[in-house]
Amino acid sequence: MIKFIRIADMKTVFSGIQPSGLVHLGNLLGAINNWVKLSDGDSKNYFCIVDLHSLTGLPNKNDLKKSIDDTLKVLIASGINLETSVIYKQSDLQEHAYLSWILSNFCQVGELQRMTQFKEKASSFGTHSGLLTYPILMASDILIHKANEVPVGDDQTQHLELTRNIAERFNNNYGEIFPIPEKTSGKSGARLMSLRHPENKMSKSSDDINGTIYFNDSKDSILKKFKSSVTDSENIIKYDQKNKPGISNLIEIYATINDIKISDAEKEFQNSQYGEFKIAVAETVFDYLKPIKNRFDELTTKDIDDIVDENIKLAKNSAQETIKEVEEALGIC
Ligand code: TYM
Repeated sequence: MIKFIRIADMKTVFSGIQPSGLVHLGNLLGAINNWVKLSDGDSKNYFCIVDLHSLTGLPNKNDLKKSIDDTLKVLIASGINLETSVIYKQSDLQEHAYLSWILSNFCQVGELQRMTQFKEKASSFGTHSGLLTYPILMASDILIHKANEVPVGDDQTQHLELTRNIAERFNNNYGEIFPIPEKTSGKSGARLMSLRHPENKMSKSSDDINGTIYFNDSKDSILKKFKSSVTDSENIIKYDQKNKPGISNLIEIYATINDIKISDAEKEFQNSQYGEFKIAVAETVFDYLKPIKNRFDELTTKDIDDIVDENIKLAKNSAQETIKEVEEALGIC
């Protein structure tokens, strides 16, 4: 049966990733994997390399440039369907920062000070105002394209709540301009933990790089990292985040990549030893990353420039339409 979708009913998806180091397995399984799936559906999608956000970490110029290029390539190589999706860089659209200023008038300073990520990051980078106002820029990223759905990992839940509040306050004051966006995640993988410190989330800035799997790790390195992953002494492959965080994390990785239930992964390995299980997870991860890495290596500068040029125009048109409506609503046009 042919399915007809009215343009007005089409859902808009927005999500972003900071170019601050190499893309890791947490980014892939918690977010990008879901972007790929959504991009094969009926929605209109915007996936953004949020380089203005990365400035809050005061990066070195060359490192930032390389991270932007690599992250862009990973998104293209990840298999996101470019027919339905626009991939672009935040700083190419000044509308993001412009809308952020407007939205800052709908957000209380106290709300920003209560954000967990602000509290964590303020202690490592010092408290500059970019760190504090970061969630308003994030709200503007989402609202600039009037997104309905935001596929992210669990660490972004609080920022999404704030975005919803900002959108509601704007609408209450100036009319129904913004949809109220929903956070979505996959059925597992929304919070991958460090392989070495399973009480902390897997991240680019982890103290122990052996706890993080990067998209371009070699097979040897993946095997080494999984073999040395921290588990427990029980030798029972059972999901129990509280008492067995390490083994639960490995089960979660395996289930997410294979798109199976956690309980099915448990069953599959109920008679296995930890050593065997660790190798099986490492191989699964390697097989998952391999095509991404291969496509990444094959992409030429011309391929990327063509995609970027085309996509900036599409993103800009969408952003400018929203800005026009917002300005009219505010009476500043
Ligand atoms: P960032 O760059 O830290 O991470 C990008 C995406 O990866 C997810 N993620 C994880 N998921 C599962 N397990 C992990 N260990 C893990 N680590 C990271 C994140 O949840 C995210 O979905 N503030 C955002 C970037 C941003 C954004 C936006 C996202 C800016 N504007 C608008 C959505 C919409 C961030 O720092 O993500």
